[in-house]
Amino acid sequence: MKKFFTLCILGCLLVGTAMANNDVYSDEMNRFITDLMSRMTLEEKLGQLNQQPSDEIATGPVVGSNASKLAAEGKLSSIFNIMDVEKIQGLQKIAVEKSRLGIPILFGMDVIHGYHTIFPLPLGLSCTWDMEAVREAARIAAAEARANGVAWTFSPMVDIALDSRWGRMAEGAGEDPYLGSRVAEAMVKGYQGDLFDPNGKGDTGIMACVKHFALYGAAEAGLDYNTADMSHLRMYNQYFPPYKAAVEAGAGSVMSSFNIVDGIPATANKWLLTDVLRKQWGFRGMIVTDYASIAEMTSHGLGTLKDNAARALLAGTDMDMCANGFIGTLKQSLDESKVTMEDIDRACRRVLEAKYRLGLFKDPYRFGSKKEANRVTYCKEHRETARRITAESFVLLKNGTSDHPILPLEMKGTIALIGPMIDTRTDITGSWSMPQDATKYTTLREGFQNALKGKATLLCTQGCNLIDNPHTQQAVAKGHNCEPIPFVDCDKAMKEALDIAGRSDVVVCAMGECAWMNGEGTSRTNLELYQPQRRLLEALKQTGKPIVLLNFAGRGTVLTWESEHLDAIMNVWYGSECADALCDVLFGKVSPSGRLTVSMPRATGQEPLYYNHLPTGRPVADGTKDYRVWSPNYLDAVQGPLYPFGYGLTYSSFSYGDLKLSNTTMKSDGSITASITLTNTGNRESTEVVQLYIHDLIASISRPVKELKDFQRVTLKAGESRNVEFHITADKLKFYDYNLNYVLEPGEFEIMIGPNSRDVKVGKLKVEN
Ligand code: BGC
Repeated sequence: MKKFFTLCILGCLLVGTAMANNDVYSDEMNRFITDLMSRMTLEEKLGQLNQQPSDEIATGPVVGSNASKLAAEGKLSSIFNIMDVEKIQGLQKIAVEKSRLGIPILFGMDVIHGYHTIFPLPLGLSCTWDMEAVREAARIAAAEARANGVAWTFSPMVDIALDSRWGRMAEGAGEDPYLGSRVAEAMVKGYQGDLFDPNGKGDTGIMACVKHFALYGAAEAGLDYNTADMSHLRMYNQYFPPYKAAVEAGAGSVMSSFNIVDGIPATANKWLLTDVLRKQWGFRGMIVTDYASIAEMTSHGLGTLKDNAARALLAGTDMDMCANGFIGTLKQSLDESKVTMEDIDRACRRVLEAKYRLGLFKDPYRFGSKKEANRVTYCKEHRETARRITAESFVLLKNGTSDHPILPLEMKGTIALIGPMIDTRTDITGSWSMPQDATKYTTLREGFQNALKGKATLLCTQGCNLIDNPHTQQAVAKGHNCEPIPFVDCDKAMKEALDIAGRSDVVVCAMGECAWMNGEGTSRTNLELYQPQRRLLEALKQTGKPIVLLNFAGRGTVLTWESEHLDAIMNVWYGSECADALCDVLFGKVSPSGRLTVSMPRATGQEPLYYNHLPTGRPVADGTKDYRVWSPNYLDAVQGPLYPFGYGLTYSSFSYGDLKLSNTTMKSDGSITASITLTNTGNRESTEVVQLYIHDLIASISRPVKELKDFQRVTLKAGESRNVEFHITADKLKFYDYNLNYVLEPGEFEIMIGPNSRDVKVGKLKVEN
């Protein structure tokens, strides 16, 4: 206690001003850390580079005794995924009172889309195109996590993902660098609150960790952990922007990715971690590896743990997650002059800076209080916000015909609710909801029962298995604290489903992926609905009843058959309030306003499929049906996506007037306005997401056929019109050229405005020097 007390007094004296002004990499901070480091042994410094997982989430409520031992020895800098504030503070007490220097532990957690109040998957959140909502979701996640003792989240994941076979697409914002950058900023700001705000008190927020730097989403064949390889040009123009935006938004930390970048694993890639991240983008925070990345470099074929720990350190990595590479081998590397004391000090300093900026030296217990945890965790206000945002995220893909829409449903007659997702409480939140408390959540069946009570009859049954393979159906739940969806007798289940469908006026099917059919390690080779689900839909179709498909997914899926045969389809991205939010939308309290942030293919073989691709030398228009020889088209599919990036319907309809440019020429340092008149031509208030795209027609390098550059959510009453304007300046037209200079090249551009990336109005702009 005395040790920490001394450290604390010194900390308070030195930290005093910095706490009021806590984002400054100040002289006070430097002096404090220099003084502290002058008293640290080599072992203690290496201890600060060491991060361990807790066994909490996997094995129950006990902090491994190893963690306590390491904490007492000053060898545990950070630990992640401990669920209980008292346990966290108990371990903190060991670190500050029993270790020689009393340096506090940094407690991290994968708070990916909520703590107990779970928002839609990040991919779903991005489908709101509502940056206030994204920021608010992150703020609430941080408030709950912080109250429960967490100081650091391993989020946002901002990896661009072009290939829906890759299950981790669920964790990011989809395929677009511009939208991805806006989401990245919103999440960082939402998470961090006023933590590093020079004028704030630092009493809201937790530290964000931008991941996975870099290119993790470019895994070949959509296979998780697979090789990624691309030109620097593509990195800078397409993959880097969201990471850069997150860094510019002030993210306190970055996580390196598992994959190689230019032949060298990201964790040991000096060009990436030091030249790009620190020197070019000015990142000053801490870099942590991904889970055991240093150890995995051996499998990448780069030698021993010792070699790779040294490489990672020299590249600019500061903290080793779970590999025991830094703590276990750097001393020997130092003795062998493979690394220097300066290298170790540099990493140690960055870790201590993060702890200092978080205010841990002043008060190691400032993150977390039982009272606050009880007050905010899954509180009414958070649940209501989550319900609203979840409803905003659903993407309505099909709704009967314009003359005969199916949705919203009336609350009358008999409604059948069928599918493997109807009774699950653990899977309703989606993948990466580890902190969840599923006992609190409402299943779909319960949500429908509550909504329809006294108004309509509800008949429910599972109807089919998720997947034909019972092992896979069990395995996706195992290890994730999820209750497996029951494996049922198919014939019996289908018979029951057909029976209740026959007795109903409309059939709502909740199908798709259960929680851990997307997320880490969940690559797919076939993006169609799994066979048992499709078979049931085919049989239900024979009843002649209208069928509404709620497609639970964490990626783009193939719904070609469903779009032809079913009456309505809505993409659903999970969340603890999903059941109530679904009822809000299905029964018409809320008009859907989500828009896709991933192109939905017609066939899996089209992947990777994304709207902002480079032109080929022989362009073939999307939607082309007839096969053409010597052309970039498939023999066996209509070209282009089934549902394009940006697509989504509402319960109303909107018309777009002609696109107007305030000027058809623009000086390179000038600006113009592009506008359209938007009219709500339907009969209820709804929200449209108006999207601005550009195309650089002639440039020194080939440029994408279309690039999103801005968007606005516009809510209009029935019959209302509004002029929607976008300001175009050089920054919307610039790109990285062959020499990686960020340039505006004068010449002609197409300016496009529309409701999605396909159906746009086009104008031409000439940019002059
Ligand atoms: C994932 C990261 C995650 C980490 C810690 C890794 O397997 O790739 O995204 O933050 O584990 O749980």
